[in-house]
Amino acid sequence: MIRKFQFGKPFETEAVTADIAVSEGMPSCGEICLEEGFCYRFTMDENDIVYGLGEANRGINKRGYCYISAAADDPEHTEDKRSLYAAHNFIVISGRKNFGLFVDYPTRLTFDIGYTRSDLLEITCEAADLYLYVIEGESAYDIVRQFRGIIGRSYIPPKFAFGYGQSRWGYRTKEDFREVAAGYRKNQIPLDMIYMDIDYMEGYKDFTLNEENFQDFPEFVKEMKEQNIRLVPIIDAGVKIEEGYSICEEGEQGGYFCKKEDGSDFVAAVWPGYTHFPDVLNPEARRWFGDKYRFLTEQGIEGFWNDMNEPSIFYTPEGIDGVRELIRSYMEDKDGGASIFEIREAMMRLANSQKDYESFYHQVNGQKIRHDRVHNLFGYNMTRAAGEAFERIDPDRRFLMFSRSSYIGMHRYGGIWTGDNKSWWSHLLLNLKMMPSLNMCGFLYTGADLGGFGADTTRDLLLRWLALGVFTPLMRNHTAIGTRQQECYQFEKTEDFRHVVGVRYRLIPYLYSEYMKAALSDDMYFKPLAFEYPQDPQALQVEDQLMLGNEIMIAPVYTQNAKGRYVYLPEEMLFVKFMPDGSVSGEKLSAGHHYVEIALNEVPLFVRKGKCIPVAKAAQSVEELDVRNLEILGYDGAEYELYEDDGIHKDYANPRNKRMIKK
Ligand code: GLC
Repeated sequence: MIRKFQFGKPFETEAVTADIAVSEGMPSCGEICLEEGFCYRFTMDENDIVYGLGEANRGINKRGYCYISAAADDPEHTEDKRSLYAAHNFIVISGRKNFGLFVDYPTRLTFDIGYTRSDLLEITCEAADLYLYVIEGESAYDIVRQFRGIIGRSYIPPKFAFGYGQSRWGYRTKEDFREVAAGYRKNQIPLDMIYMDIDYMEGYKDFTLNEENFQDFPEFVKEMKEQNIRLVPIIDAGVKIEEGYSICEEGEQGGYFCKKEDGSDFVAAVWPGYTHFPDVLNPEARRWFGDKYRFLTEQGIEGFWNDMNEPSIFYTPEGIDGVRELIRSYMEDKDGGASIFEIREAMMRLANSQKDYESFYHQVNGQKIRHDRVHNLFGYNMTRAAGEAFERIDPDRRFLMFSRSSYIGMHRYGGIWTGDNKSWWSHLLLNLKMMPSLNMCGFLYTGADLGGFGADTTRDLLLRWLALGVFTPLMRNHTAIGTRQQECYQFEKTEDFRHVVGVRYRLIPYLYSEYMKAALSDDMYFKPLAFEYPQDPQALQVEDQLMLGNEIMIAPVYTQNAKGRYVYLPEEMLFVKFMPDGSVSGEKLSAGHHYVEIALNEVPLFVRKGKCIPVAKAAQSVEELDVRNLEILGYDGAEYELYEDDGIHKDYANPRNKRMIKK
């Protein structure tokens, strides 16, 4: 049962698509206090678990920390961080009582989940203008299903997007891309996508191509596609301010940019230097910006990633003036003026400053809205701009799209990647923990930068991370400029990479089928064990294994130098290992705890009792997969419903997409 409560005058975020009437009165679980802004309180039972929050730090069980929904471009995802790039305000309290809460509020919101007082859940925000959805159900899983049912169908990418992709900030020329393609193809490591980071543009200007490096771009897109490789360019939120740059001029003339109080266009520096932000909350501006993607779709591009859309601000002219003042005071008055420390502090505060977010406005349905009041909706609406445009460009075709910043509602238009992680073992585990939480909030097409974005990776970390990435819908190796080369073929014994990435392709029939089933029935692709085995007290605590679809459990190795790991089986399962020689080992393991050996070049999974999964032969690209000749792995007599379609169009309901296979 879902009830919707209204407080004050909420901003219509359009996160929820179902038409739900506002309930009278107050929610029956927890209490609400409206003395200072909004506050929701609930006293948790000792054993209550709290799930949700999508892209957030720490565990699957969110209890014991404080999280703040305030989309932030912060590449240091250390354990103490309370905000990441997204705002996913949905939680489920599971235990003595089971209920879910979605706080539809577009800016800074705090979830204190047993941080200040271990038994207290407290949700607070400054303005009591919001919708609160309270969902009651039988179990955490049931509540998630109900929630997913009211926020609209999750985004469905084209099938090629289930292949493996290589990215690196720093590829500049056609030769750089050709080298990556050749590196993979020569070493026979499968590959479907190469991502184009900001250097493909002319001066980091959106919807331009570096003229010297990308002459005859459609020809180049074709050249790659002939090798079954798609180029996937990045689009940044800020539009460079430059005379003669048509996007900037059109935006200025059309009034499509966010404005300052005095009506002039807001100015903020990002990669290109000073930029204007398209006012993607304004439907007209959104349409204008979305149509710009045509510049690349018309040249054969079928997918994009949207970045810097928190929106990220490096500094503003006003911020720089402030620092300049401090430096002047330091220079002119060495004794009484600003100190070096103050100057350093001020420099650090230049980026993503609250003051800047308070100094510009959106136009929404004739109303002027200060950005900080709707801050968490920018990435959502930038991606919506593209998603709505794709519907106009080719309504029958699916495009690849994922974003860095997001809010619930954006899950209908694209996936997300989890931003600038590091080449740290702890971030491999964080990647795993975020996945089911994201699914709860509707984000199914997700993944992290495999191998780690910041810092130098190591061969073993990349291999172990790929062995998790084999299962994440978005499987992309991405790294920052200046880091060690991270393409699979840069390391010794490339055959290990060929094998691990190859397992992804072997599993695509199953992974794609489970993805589609989850998307088409508002279900989860990744689940915590607790959702399948709610009566098992040990399953409730597992934070380093996941259920994937209805047939398998995954338990990747995430520790340096480990030769295996402990794993908990809530029921008997078939322990399967994809061995480097192409063979598959299978061993029935009884319910309980086991230590399992998993070498660096092996990929493990567990088939649930009585189930089976289809497995293909490895291929160099999704296009080359032979989905007609599938091997069936699992329990004898088991059946599996396989979903399969052309992977391009949207004919999802066609009964021919489903067939039963039997072991
Ligand atoms: C941001 C993105 C990262 C990208 C970089 C350069 O840091 O998160 O993925 O490589 O910008 O565009």
